[in-house]
Amino acid sequence: MSKSVKDAGLKKGLTSYGDEGFSLFLRKAFIKGAGYTDDALSRPIVAIANTSSAYNPCHGNAPQLIEAIKRGVMLAGGLPVEFPTISIAESFSHPTSMYLRNLMSIDTEEMIRAQPMDAVVLIGGCDKTVPAQLMGAAAAGVPAIQLVTGAMLTGSHRGERVGACTDCRRFWARFRGEEIDAREIDDVNDQLVPTVGTCSVMGTASTMACLAEALGIMLPGGASAPAVTADRIRIAERTGATAVAMIERKLTPERILTLDAFENALRVLLAVGGSTNGIIHLTAIAGRLGIEIDLDEVDGMARETPVLVDLKPSGEHYMEDLHKAGGLTTVLRELKPLLKLDALTVTGRTLGEELEAAPASFAQRVVRPFDRPIYPQGGIAVLRGNLAPGGAIIKQSAANPVLMEHEGRAVVFEDAEDLARRIDDPALDVEADDVLVLKNIGPVGAPGMPEAGYIPIPKKLAKLGVKDMVRISDGRMSGTAAGTIVLHVTPESAIGGPLALVRSGDRIRLSVSRRSIDMLVDDAELRRRAEAASPYVVAPDERGYRKLFLTSILQADKGCDFDFLRAPETTAKVPRPR
Ligand code: FES
Ligand code: MG
Repeated sequence: MSKSVKDAGLKKGLTSYGDEGFSLFLRKAFIKGAGYTDDALSRPIVAIANTSSAYNPCHGNAPQLIEAIKRGVMLAGGLPVEFPTISIAESFSHPTSMYLRNLMSIDTEEMIRAQPMDAVVLIGGCDKTVPAQLMGAAAAGVPAIQLVTGAMLTGSHRGERVGACTDCRRFWARFRGEEIDAREIDDVNDQLVPTVGTCSVMGTASTMACLAEALGIMLPGGASAPAVTADRIRIAERTGATAVAMIERKLTPERILTLDAFENALRVLLAVGGSTNGIIHLTAIAGRLGIEIDLDEVDGMARETPVLVDLKPSGEHYMEDLHKAGGLTTVLRELKPLLKLDALTVTGRTLGEELEAAPASFAQRVVRPFDRPIYPQGGIAVLRGNLAPGGAIIKQSAANPVLMEHEGRAVVFEDAEDLARRIDDPALDVEADDVLVLKNIGPVGAPGMPEAGYIPIPKKLAKLGVKDMVRISDGRMSGTAAGTIVLHVTPESAIGGPLALVRSGDRIRLSVSRRSIDMLVDDAELRRRAEAASPYVVAPDERGYRKLFLTSILQADKGCDFDFLRAPETTAKVPRPR
């Protein structure tokens, strides 16, 4: 790499106040305090967004990855410079990680803009980190490449293979149903997360890793290698070297994150049986580039995209098995007829060229052939009706087929506290064929749209062996959860969406085949209820980030982004109508 790249390296983003030479002189003087030579400082700079945090074991291998990225950058002639950003771990983000995603995206975008860098490597992993980084980088306009920390390995409990966090839920449900005792639930707690890295099933972290690879903003083969493997370290080294090459090719995010790229990512989301959160995050990333994701068209795509990947929670296996089966490449190869193969990737080659160059396929049991899918239609269906005029979604591949056409009596919980107070009350009036409804867990309501949409089965029914019920909310669900669960009801109840009007005893009808979700209450009665309802107002004593959040957050169909962060204009829609 030549040393004479103009307006690069330390000169980038120089604030000169009229004397550019002096500003650069000062900048160099200060960074030399860290011991750099002029030779080092004359190289193109590849910054590394370091999201390591003691609160985030999903990123516990970040120090090793950084070392490998630096090696790759230096082998390619660049200067690696790491910097910290916010790190978000699912379990340590009050009130919910989604509340912080946009904050992390602002941090990422502004630090990319503020500091001199010619390219940036983004180290993400845990659920909200990859979307936050891509949202920020999409708008910052500097060549960017995503690396993920990689999945954790699976553990073993009394001879049974276990992994986070589908099995966390399964064992906890058994504990609630009094099938296993306190000693056993303690034992399994030690085994569910046996190494650093992200959840080992096709939860949100694995989904976002696959989506980043499908978008072309990650190295081909970069999604699946587990956190503690040599493969993961090698991917990090190659990521660093690729970042240097991206500088000369001027491979900025908007050249990679195109309509074709988002269509490919949506195909992959459907085919891997990915997390429902993937839709919200892709919508948010696209929105930063003026691209709108059209939910109804996504549903059309879903009807022709089979689920091919046999991973929990929709199937049987774990991320490390997908890696051994050839990783996302194996999936992309099966999906080829549906993909936009001309989409450019971080390597400077197209997705089609990368697939041609990929290692040959071999016999494996994790990724099904296109004509023998694990589920014939895409994992996610989009529902509409008088309960969700702005749309709602259900992960049908993880739902109970018997409940997908269902009418039942609503049992309504006004908010998360009401749910916590009454769900296990032996006196709760609830039957197995009722429909559980939870209000006020949407983007504004909770706030932050927590993953509370996985409403637990009332204890008295769980003890009778009831494993699934139709559940409806304006919240999200963890990508590692399964059940007949309607999510993202839009508009949400807190801002006066019709979900707010449902009362216990109303009849609710779900028909996944007709893509409908309705309450069987006549319009006049709904109008009466709406007139009596009190709309949500942001309290005058709110301040700080919470105030910004409450006054700027958009609904799920806009990716729960802040209104002022989206591109000012929508210039295109994906998927394109066919
Ligand atoms: Fe971090 Fe699941 S908790 S990836
Ligand atoms: Mg999760």
